[in-house]
Amino acid sequence: MKKYIQPLLTLVLGVLIASPVGALPVIENTDAADPGNRLVFCHFMIGIVSNRQSAADYDADMQRAKSLGIDAFALNIGVDSYTDRELDLAYESAANNGMKVFISFDFNWYNIGQGSAIGAKVQQYANRPAQLRINNKAVVSSFAGDGVAVNLIRSAAGTDIFFAPNFHPGSGDFNAIDGALNWMAWDNNGNNKAPTPGHNVTVAQGDQAYVAALAGKPYIAPASGWFFTHFGGEVSYSKNWVFPSDLLWFNRWQEILELGPRFVEIVTWNDYGESHYIAPLSSPHTDDGGSKWVMDMPHNGWLEMSRPFIAAYKAASTSVNSYINEDQLIYWYRPTPKDVNCDSTDTTMKGNADNSSGNFFRGRPNGYETMEDKVFVVSLLTSPATIEVQSGANEQSFAAQAGANAFSIPMGVGKQIFSVTRDGHTILSGTSLKDIVDTCICGIYNFNAYVGMLPAEPTIDRLQPAGLAALSQGLSVPCPTNTLGAISSAAVNTDAPRDLSCGD
Ligand SMILES: *[C@@H]1O[C@H](CO)[C@@H](O)[C@H](O)[C@H]1NC(C)=O
Ligand SMILES: *[C@@H]1O[C@H](CO)[C@@H](O)[C@H](O)[C@H]1NC(C)=O
Repeated sequence: MKKYIQPLLTLVLGVLIASPVGALPVIENTDAADPGNRLVFCHFMIGIVSNRQSAADYDADMQRAKSLGIDAFALNIGVDSYTDRELDLAYESAANNGMKVFISFDFNWYNIGQGSAIGAKVQQYANRPAQLRINNKAVVSSFAGDGVAVNLIRSAAGTDIFFAPNFHPGSGDFNAIDGALNWMAWDNNGNNKAPTPGHNVTVAQGDQAYVAALAGKPYIAPASGWFFTHFGGEVSYSKNWVFPSDLLWFNRWQEILELGPRFVEIVTWNDYGESHYIAPLSSPHTDDGGSKWVMDMPHNGWLEMSRPFIAAYKAASTSVNSYINEDQLIYWYRPTPKDVNCDSTDTTMKGNADNSSGNFFRGRPNGYETMEDKVFVVSLLTSPATIEVQSGANEQSFAAQAGANAFSIPMGVGKQIFSVTRDGHTILSGTSLKDIVDTCICGIYNFNAYVGMLPAEPTIDRLQPAGLAALSQGLSVPCPTNTLGAISSAAVNTDAPRDLSCGD
């Protein structure tokens, strides 16, 4: 749904003219070392939930996010006819569930000439009970938006705001804002694509650029697990690329604990089309065409994995280890090795597609070389144990320490089997519901991740009918729906992965 807007150098001049020296706002309390100041946000796409009809339709998301330690949803909005209705419902549900929310204006749809309209939209919601306030100011954020007239937003808002947009160092006017969100949660080439040798901007370098530009104002550091999008000519917003992801969800949380920013924003809760969701597949939403690579690809294990990291971050601890209270194994992998050739059936190979965004590529997603053919495993352990992983014909065991540890083994076609043993007893074991295959599922290149965990989820997480509505659009081959655990379930699942075997 989202196109990235290049920070325009031409904006810089306008910004310098618009912000005379001496108009510096008061610097906020930036004490990120004080645990009480630390908050975790999660980016939530309103554009994909037009099928929600009541506040109750938001309750499960609010409750789940709150239980994870997320303090507020950043409600990403465009200018759809249903935006106000859905904002009303989200604010109402948040209030009913003790959650906070704030609006994040998406400048793919808003333009930087709309400062007053944005301020007016802020005014509509700023006094609702669920509005997140910092220093008693209503929090307002954005995706992109360098160059918008912040003074117009402030005066139209009719209330004090804490404006922390996704301005870019070198483009946006950092004197005019109270904090900033960095969206780039993935190593990149500085031009919104995967890095290449010699063109490599790491997430940590992004952190440093923001921290420098903010000069002590609060930083909203991004945390994301994945990025893969694969829209072909079947939609008007064709785009097809990955950012290197692999062990990112683990590595980035470690980095966040070290950095200790004032705020963290998880990217995202429910942007299924870009594969960085941590919400269940069953969270009510419509289908922007992403179901082709989202069906049967739950990410709930990432949600679980972040739980102790969020707790550690909020306690201003640089180690997650003392926040792990139960033994868990989180694992993930792409469903096919990258050399499997899907050119003859892939959606991006056919017909014409609009490439005015520069984001459309044919065939394997741009940047695919940066992904490794591996199965990734994170162990969250209360004391040391042995991890065994069987990926098709590959088999390896690891001595895992107490706390959080990450491992990987080369991807093998076939079943994916995991176990954790301690003192000769198997404490966790199971076979993934998703095999790795060397065929093209639904005919396409699917570089999304399947995420599983042990103990296994008690129920299989599935896309609902609205989330599957565009599944077949553009496909060349039949694509059976919701196959997880359904294909020869007897064979796949006889050893009941959800059972905790307590040894003898
Ligand atoms: C980019 O730099 C990071 C950090 O040095 C490194 O881990 C990664 O492999 C590099 N990526 C590419 C494509 O060069
Ligand atoms: C789309 O535009 C980008 C940027 O100009 C270019 O690199 C890419 O090759 C284009 N895609 C196609 C399919 O021509």
